[in-house]
Amino acid sequence: MAEQTFTIKALQLEDVPEAAQLSSDAFLADRQTQMKALGRNPFNLKEYHMQSLPEMLKSPRCVILKAVDNETGEFAGFCNWGLIGFSPSEMPELEGRIQPPERPAAAPASQSEDDKDDEGEERNKKPEKEEASPPKQSVTPGPEAVPDAEDDPIERLQALTGADLDAWQKEVMPPGTKCLVVIGLSVSPKFQRRGIGSALLRWGTNICDEAGVFAWVHSSEPAWRAYEKAGFEVIRCLDVDLDEYAPCPPPDEGPGAKWGHYVFRYMKYFPANG
Ligand SMILES: CC(C)(COP(=O)(O)OP(=O)(O)OC[C@H]1O[C@@H](n2cnc3c(N)ncnc32)[C@H](O)[C@@H]1OP(=O)(O)O)[C@@H](O)C(=O)NCCC(=O)NCCS
Repeated sequence: MAEQTFTIKALQLEDVPEAAQLSSDAFLADRQTQMKALGRNPFNLKEYHMQSLPEMLKSPRCVILKAVDNETGEFAGFCNWGLIGFSPSEMPELEGRIQPPERPAAAPASQSEDDKDDEGEERNKKPEKEEASPPKQSVTPGPEAVPDAEDDPIERLQALTGADLDAWQKEVMPPGTKCLVVIGLSVSPKFQRRGIGSALLRWGTNICDEAGVFAWVHSSEPAWRAYEKAGFEVIRCLDVDLDEYAPCPPPDEGPGAKWGHYVFRYMKYFPANG
């Protein structure tokens, strides 16, 4: 086996701007993210991470890993793992991870606020057992809700994918479930295909094997092969014809260009001795 050329560490607060840029670069080729950036309320993945990552670092049930290139020290990738239903003593050790308090100072969101919450990483503000709940849009969250959502095709897409993800979460994680969830995974384009994504996933799947619990992910179209290689299986798909929700045709791609179909895959990792 080839020697690992990178090291996995705990993401720190000061890494957030670089992480946000890295993820934005990693998703440049993602059709859904490209299209959402052209909506009436343009989605900006970098800004999304700038807001959500500091919150996630405060969550006692989130572990954010970063991969650093051994030779250059460059930030090569990161992965947010949510650990659902784990007690404080069961949380894995990761050197350098700031252990957030079990009861963060932030007040719990009210039910009505929760209903409006379109970007599930915000759910991590809630205390105790619901912390580290996965996002409603785990991989490519959408724009903020706008009042005239029905007129905005991107908002309609967001409503469709959000409802589908909600239904999946209810099914896969009934109350009392203990599992892991990949909340986000990005590897810098410069460092892709060197096994970094696999190593960031292995960290969590090893915990699954040890604890006898499953993991799941709402995979982006470009990433599902990487999850498959890491041992995840496709359980359910949502195939979206992006052109039905497009605010405009893809720019700079010539006449008649299409956005095409985008398949979200709900994937599960089953523990080795589960
Ligand atoms: C998905 C992603 C994290 C994979 O990271 P990575 O470090 O390149 O992954 P690895 O090098 O560990 O690749 C593992 C396996 O995944 C598969 N894979 C990865 N990228 C692939 C691609 N572009 N096409 C086909 N298979 C691919 C291969 O089987 C690969 O194994 P191999 O290189 O031995 O053939 C990275 O491509 C990425 O950041 N993509 C954009 C962001 C994204 O979609 N994130 C996922 C959100 S759910």
